[in-house]
Amino acid sequence: MSNRKAISFFLFLLFSIFVIAKTEAQSCQPSGKIKGKKPPKDQCNKNNDSECCEQGKYYTTYKCSPTVGAHTKAVLTLNSFEKGKDGGGPSECDSKYHSDDIPIVALSTGWFNNMKRCFRNVTIYGNGNSVSAMVVDECDSTMGCDLDHDYQPPCNNNIVDASRAVWKALGVPKSQWGEMDITWSDDNA
Ligand SMILES: *[C@@H]1O[C@H](CO)[C@@H](O)[C@H](O)[C@H]1NC(C)=O
Ligand SMILES: *[C@@H]1O[C@H](CO)[C@@H](O)[C@H](O)[C@H]1NC(C)=O
Repeated sequence: MSNRKAISFFLFLLFSIFVIAKTEAQSCQPSGKIKGKKPPKDQCNKNNDSECCEQGKYYTTYKCSPTVGAHTKAVLTLNSFEKGKDGGGPSECDSKYHSDDIPIVALSTGWFNNMKRCFRNVTIYGNGNSVSAMVVDECDSTMGCDLDHDYQPPCNNNIVDASRAVWKALGVPKSQWGEMDITWSDDNA
C-alpha cells in the first residue's frame, strides 16, 4: 500500500468508528408493546387531536429518548395541564394541575429522566421563534391506554407536549396548533 492509500484507509477507519459510535449513542430501541383496550364509554378525550387507544391495536413503548443536544429534534404537541381537560391526571412533578396560560411542558419518558428535569426550563425553537418553558410533567412513553393516561396511547419517545402558552409564544396561528416539528435544549446547559 502506498503511503497515501494507507492514510486514506486510516482516515476511513476513524470515520467509520465515529459514525458507528454516534449511531450507537443515538439509537433508542422500543422497550415493548401494549395492547389497546377499548376506552369505557365517555372516557378518552378526543379534543385537541388526542388519540384514543383502539381495541386490539398494539402500541410501541419506550424507556429511552434520543440523545439531548443543543438542538434536539422533537415533535411539539398540544396538552392541557388543567383539571378535567385532555391531559389526564395531575402533573407528575408536583401532583398538581397547572394553568395553560403559563409556558409549561411534559417530556417523553426518556427526556423526563426520572423527574430529573422537573421544574427545569427548556428552550423550544419553532416557527422561527423560541420560548423558555418549565418541565412539569411526563409524557409517558412506557404506558398508556388506561384511566391514568386518559385512555390515550403511550407517548412517542420524542415528544414535547406543551401548554397553549407555548404555542402562542412561538407565534403559531391557532388553526395550526396540534403538532409541529421543533428543536429544544436545556436552559443553562
Ligand atoms: C384544548 O386545548 C386548549 C388549549 O390548550 C384548552 O384551552 C382546552 O381546554 C383543551 N380542550 C380540552 C377539552 O381539553
Ligand atoms: C421558566 O419557565 C417559566 C414558565 O413556566 C417562566 O415563568 C420563567 O420565567 C422561566 N425561567 C427562565 C429563567 O426563563
